[in-house]
Amino acid sequence: MVAVIAIDGPSGSGKSTVAHLVAEKQGWFYLNTGAMYRAVGLYLADNNIPCDDSAVKEEMLEAVDVDFDEEGRILLNKKDISGRILTPEAARHASDYSKLSAVRKLMTALQRKIGLSRPSVVEGRDIGTVVFPDADHKFFIVASPEERARRRYLQLKEKDPKTTITIEEILRRQQERDKQDAERALAPLKQAEDAILVDTTEKTIDEVVEEIMGRL
Ligand code: DC
Repeated sequence: MVAVIAIDGPSGSGKSTVAHLVAEKQGWFYLNTGAMYRAVGLYLADNNIPCDDSAVKEEMLEAVDVDFDEEGRILLNKKDISGRILTPEAARHASDYSKLSAVRKLMTALQRKIGLSRPSVVEGRDIGTVVFPDADHKFFIVASPEERARRRYLQLKEKDPKTTITIEEILRRQQERDKQDAERALAPLKQAEDAILVDTTEKTIDEVVEEIMGRL
């Protein structure tokens, strides 16, 4: 098997930033699977498709082409949608539609195909448990709910200084999404038995990256 480092955890745990930097240091491909679920979620929501297994069939998803360009930007049917995927709405659609069996089946197959085409750092919720259970290294990244909400707030504020969203509102949505991601029947968010737990609450990004690099 081609080398894979699996990095899982809830949103705001710092896993995306850390996974990206570890990939850079290794000179490996960075695969953000959350971005893929956000892309499919946006497609289905834009087309007003109800969020249930009877409405979302595998055949229908043949029309959805999710890919990355050379710079790692997410493409939906060849169009760069990286500007849209970071919104709270995209996050909610991703969490909602990622419960569906056809969506998970398609995304898991695509993630395996992309991840196995070159050494990769793969980031998500179910990478160490379902997508790459035989990954060379597995990490599960966590942080306190308050710290995660604070980080998400700063991120949104930086992107849109006029945003009126509050930390309390982010915390509320985050709790909903965590619950939905951890309690769903298919590939829920959970630590693989052989994953190393890293709590980033009181650590800087550099400290976390160093900790992970030291374990490879
Ligand atoms: O990592 P993220 O916040 O961009 O992920 C958005 C949603 O996508 C998340 O709430 C659950 C879903 N997701 C998933 O089910 N499995 C993954 N491997 C990655 C994301």
